[in-house]
This record gives sequence, C-alpha cells and structure tokens, in this order.
Amino acid sequence: MSVAKPLNIMAISGSLRIDSSNTSILKFLQSIVPQHNFWLYDGLDKLPHFNPALDNEHPPIEIQNLRKAITEADGIIICTPEYAFGVPGSLKNMLDWTVSSGSLVDKPVALITASSVGESAHASLLKTLEVLTANIVKGGTLLIPFIRAKMNAENQITDEQTEQNVQNVLKALLAAIAQS
Ligand SMILES: Cc1cc2nc3c(=O)[nH]c(=O)nc-3n(C[C@H](O)[C@H](O)[C@H](O)COP(=O)(O)O)c2cc1C
Repeated sequence: MSVAKPLNIMAISGSLRIDSSNTSILKFLQSIVPQHNFWLYDGLDKLPHFNPALDNEHPPIEIQNLRKAITEADGIIICTPEYAFGVPGSLKNMLDWTVSSGSLVDKPVALITASSVGESAHASLLKTLEVLTANIVKGGTLLIPFIRAKMNAENQITDEQTEQNVQNVLKALLAAIAQS
C-alpha cells in the first residue's frame, strides 16, 4: 500500500503580534493537517531591511535561509492583516527579498487577508505575487473582514463560515500541489 508523502507547507503570518488572529488562523490550519509538515515561519522580524546593495551573490544569512525554506516548500500559505491600508512592512520586506532570487516563481501560494477591512492589502499582495509569478492557486485566496468579530478571546474561529472558508483555502493549496 502506498502512503502519500507528507507535504512541506510553509506558513507565513504577516502579523508579529503574540496574540495575532492571523497566526491563530495558521495554527488552526496546522492542527487539521497533522499528516503534513505544516510549519510556521518565524523569521520575518529577523530579516534585514531590503537593500539592493546587499542583494548580491552573498546575501545575509537570514536571506539565504529564507530563500532555502521557500525553495524547499511544496507550497506557501500567507495570512496577514492590513496596516494603514497597505501590506505590513515586514511581510513586504520579505517579498522584496524574493524578487531577484525568483524563489516564488511557480510556487503554489495561498493568501488569506484577515483584518478589519483588508481590501487594499489583499489586492496589493495579489498584485505583488502576480509580479513575482507565484502560482496563486485557484480557490486559494480569501479576504476575511471584521476578523476580530469572528474569533473569541482565545483566538479560536467562532464564525462557522469563516472556519469553512479557511479550510477550503488550505484544501485548494494541497490540491494544487498534488497536481503540480
Ligand atoms: C498600526 C495599525 C494599522 C492598522 N490599519 C488597518 C487598516 O488599514 N485596515 C484594516 O483592515 N485594519 C487595520 N488595522 C487593524 C488590524 O486589521 C487588526 O488589528 C488585526 O486584528 C491585526 O491582525 P492580527 O490580529 O493578526 O495582529 C490596523 C492595526 C494597526 C495596529
């Protein structure tokens, strides 16, 4: 009997906050796929600010590690809030470091934006991922407005539709990886 190989899913939260709703969504998704290596990237706040002068054949070690992690991932799921009607700076900084390396080219990527509103950041991120020629998977994008009203004090999703929607995003990512 053949056993399906565990997939390596890199999960990136755009919020550095300890009690982040976005990180909690990713932890929830992690909990429902114990058969896969679904892991949370914790290097976002340790990346140097993007500087083209450092983006040479010997980039900083944090950047080498980031690029290696992305390359080794079968797929990536990003879950982020919106700040000041834009993409959180630390997340955009990370994406800027992937431009020259092409690390995200054809990489299956899912995107959840969970915020108070979130529309601008969601649209902006989709545009950036498109420019990076990531494989934004079909059914793998979701905007969740009013996120705080859809979670309880323990950061569990209380809104059934939202819980279903985030699961569907992950399913779409896994299905796209299986097909690639
Ligand atoms: C500095 C700052 C700016 C924010 N700007 C926006 C915004 O432009 N649009 C929005 O939808 N939410 C905005 N918010 C609210 C966040 O969406 C909300 O705090 C969200 O829960 C943060 O995600 P997290 O729980 O994962 O940290 C902002 C929050 C902060 C702290």
